[in-house]
Amino acid sequence: MFSQIMLSSEWGVDFSSEMLALARAKPPQVRLVQADLLGCWPAELGRFDCIVLAYVLHEFDLTEKISLLRRLADHHLAEHGRIVIGDIAFPTVQAREQAHQRWVDQWDEDEHYWAADEAIAACERAGLDAAYTQVSSCGGAFVIEPSIRKNPRSSAFIRVHPRPIKLIPAGKTVL
Ligand SMILES: C[S@@+](CC[C@H](N)C(=O)[O-])C[C@H]1O[C@@H](n2cnc3c(N)ncnc32)[C@H](O)[C@@H]1O
Repeated sequence: MFSQIMLSSEWGVDFSSEMLALARAKPPQVRLVQADLLGCWPAELGRFDCIVLAYVLHEFDLTEKISLLRRLADHHLAEHGRIVIGDIAFPTVQAREQAHQRWVDQWDEDEHYWAADEAIAACERAGLDAAYTQVSSCGGAFVIEPSIRKNPRSSAFIRVHPRPIKLIPAGKTVL
């Protein structure tokens, strides 16, 4: 499931009715929508200041991940909005391969765990600025902001200068 926050309005999206039923029992103010992230999205989904994708994007290969992120950035992110991703992730392709060898019995070969180095390079090629922090031995967080945005008044793309993204390591507070 991923959730989106727009001012005080929060939305959750998942294609599983079981997962939506579980989510319904939690914060009652969240509006839940059943949709496939790779399919058509309901017209009612607007633009959001923050889009959070937790433990879902590893379902998709890198090309699908980037095209989904670009689609979110173009159609569902407010100006200065950000996408935050928490997922199974490793700092490099090499570190991911080492983890694969170490945990071969538990590794799900159908899933596409992140390697931050290749993901950041792919984001850059797609006009998305990404910052990454490793949170645990197999988990990490990305913050993504478009460096190229679609001009809403024309179909032209405009280059923007994103604010620097600073990720805070787990357990530290921001002063
Ligand atoms: C590991 S669960 C994570 C759930 C929740 N975000 C969390 O952090 O507890 C992955 C979720 O992604 C949903 N999911 C997987 N592929 C999806 C897709 N193509 N479209 C929408 N939801 C999808 C699954 O139904 C499942 O609820």
